[in-house]
Amino acid sequence: MIRTESLHRVYRKGEVSVSALSDITLRIEAGEFVAVTGASGSGKSTLLNVLGCLDQPTAGSYRINGQDVSMLADQELSAIRNREIGFVFQSFNLIPHLNVLENIEIPLFYHGVPRRERRRRCIELIDRVGLRERITHASSELSGGECQRVAIARAVANAPAIILADEPTGNLDRDTGKEIMALFQEMHASGKTLIIVTHDMQIASYADRIIRLDGGRLDENGQDDS
Ligand SMILES: Nc1ncnc2c1ncn2[C@@H]1O[C@H](COP(=O)(O)OP(=O)(O)O)[C@@H](O)[C@H]1O
Ligand SMILES: [Mg+2]
Repeated sequence: MIRTESLHRVYRKGEVSVSALSDITLRIEAGEFVAVTGASGSGKSTLLNVLGCLDQPTAGSYRINGQDVSMLADQELSAIRNREIGFVFQSFNLIPHLNVLENIEIPLFYHGVPRRERRRRCIELIDRVGLRERITHASSELSGGECQRVAIARAVANAPAIILADEPTGNLDRDTGKEIMALFQEMHASGKTLIIVTHDMQIASYADRIIRLDGGRLDENGQDDS
């Protein structure tokens, strides 16, 4: 499902260039649960952003379901992102003044799903993440764990095949992090391809496979040791 071939991502600012990803070749199959680990600055977020079509490689190819997306224009890229990919971030990225239902509704709204159908699907998702009693609460009134539940429901609202999460438990205490991981496991069990970035080995151990980055390169010794 996901194939990268000798992927590079160089950030340039004036004279300075940072090689955030170098020569990344990897395959991730549909339905896999993969954790990406590595020290701070090793390129984890950069890799996730490229895989999630939020960013593009400066060299190399990236194919999703056979389609090369490394050279696509922004518009085509965002179409693929909206259709195929759900994102979860460490800082939740919810809209604070909107309530739980409204936050989850946003992607469905942009997909042109009619209001009634939107509501029906949102309520189903809210039940799934266990937030029925919070449905009309503004996201600014929620705990971190509740915010992340909303973010996960929002990420899967469009039924994307791939869910990407960048340090999704990074702002949560350990017990709440475990609850969130249980939710990710549920999503994985329902057939989603899941890629989670974490520097926490306890979180990474939930995955079927661990990919390690070191200075922007794949640490080959660290692969397939799940
Ligand atoms: N927008 C950017 N501009 C310049 N350098 C960046 C940018 N984003 C990340 N970097 C650099 O790329 C490297 C990898 O960063 P990142 O992917 O955020 O690592 P991680 O998520 O593993 O902490 C770091 O050296 C970082 O400073
Ligand atoms: Mg990061």
